Amino acid sequence: MYTQSMDLPQGPAAEPRGGPRDATDLEADARFEARIAADRKVEAQDWMPDAYRRTLVRQISQHAHSEVVGMLPEGNWVTRAPSLKRKAILLAKIQDEGGHGLYLYSAAETLGTSRDQMVGALHSGKAKYSSIFNYPTLTWADMGAVGWLVDGAAIMNQIPLCRCSYGPYARAMIRICKEESFHQRQGFDIMLSLARGTPAQKAMAQDALNRWWWPVVMMFGPSDAESIHSAQTMKWGIKRISNDDLRQKFIDATVPQAELLGLTIPDPDLKWNAERGHYEHGTIDWTEFWNVVNGNGPCNRERLAARVRAHEKGTWVREAAMAHAAKERARAERVAA
Ligand code: 3HC
Repeated sequence: MYTQSMDLPQGPAAEPRGGPRDATDLEADARFEARIAADRKVEAQDWMPDAYRRTLVRQISQHAHSEVVGMLPEGNWVTRAPSLKRKAILLAKIQDEGGHGLYLYSAAETLGTSRDQMVGALHSGKAKYSSIFNYPTLTWADMGAVGWLVDGAAIMNQIPLCRCSYGPYARAMIRICKEESFHQRQGFDIMLSLARGTPAQKAMAQDALNRWWWPVVMMFGPSDAESIHSAQTMKWGIKRISNDDLRQKFIDATVPQAELLGLTIPDPDLKWNAERGHYEHGTIDWTEFWNVVNGNGPCNRERLAARVRAHEKGTWVREAAMAHAAKERARAERVAA
């Protein structure tokens, strides 16, 4: 199973806590609970229960993998962007996603797991990444839909993570959210140009919305009733808003944007409920969602193979950097001697 099962380094902080607990344990636990109750940040050097640590490693590493795998569907369009300006914007966005992956791997490393362990878990298929990146990007309009909808959904999910109880994750999320906001706007701008373009361009934008809408709605995760981790992660202040509530916020915010574009959301059951002050949506195909999560989506195998290939091709870069660092260290030692 996913990174819950990843090995953490040995040592007192990592000892399983299932056995008998002494007074020191109970005091540390009480201090941790008091910190969470007071909404104060937990930092890397603070004592934390193993289950809290494992949950953070699971969520942060999944998030990091999502950022990195998320570069692939867009990378597919760099050579075919319709203008130099669009190409430069797309390149900058993809580069940002790589940066997000690096901050997040670093945040997870503060919990005592190594980058190699996390990357190994991704490459062996043990670790999850977001379902959304297992769908193909078939036309240029998909670059618009991905920015507008996927990054829009990511912001909705990630703004509350800026208030996550674990300090290094919360701080990483602040910069990530600022950059995601630019990503969302560039995607909307592509959609706007297409929607105001020729009939064929508008049809291309509509087709992209048709294909991306439901996978994006699913991206928030299973319904609250089915979400196995939500209750505990919310109690710990890691997650602040539930999967269903975030999904609702996203739909409420996005419907007026689609109207402004003059595009139709592909959900015949979508309707405004004035009493609730929210849009109601049609039934989500959870069978499709779990198929994709479990490795059987349209592009799962292709995405993982591309990541493994890229990592292998980068071996010489990592080796060169290590050799350079060793030479620098030896030089500094010679000077100091
Ligand atoms: N894709 C793949 N797996 C998913 C998923 C999704 N969209 N949604 C849920 N799952 C998995 C969970 O990881 C969990 O599996 P596990 O027990 O093997 O780890 C299982 O389904 C049950 O789901 P829960 O709701 O109980 O799990 P969580 O409480 O962890 O909630 C989450 C899932 C909302 C994704 C949460 O982990 C989260 O907020 N993560 C941080 C944000 C993140 O990772 N976003 C991914 C997208 S990043 C991105 O989009 C990049 C940007 O550049 C566009």
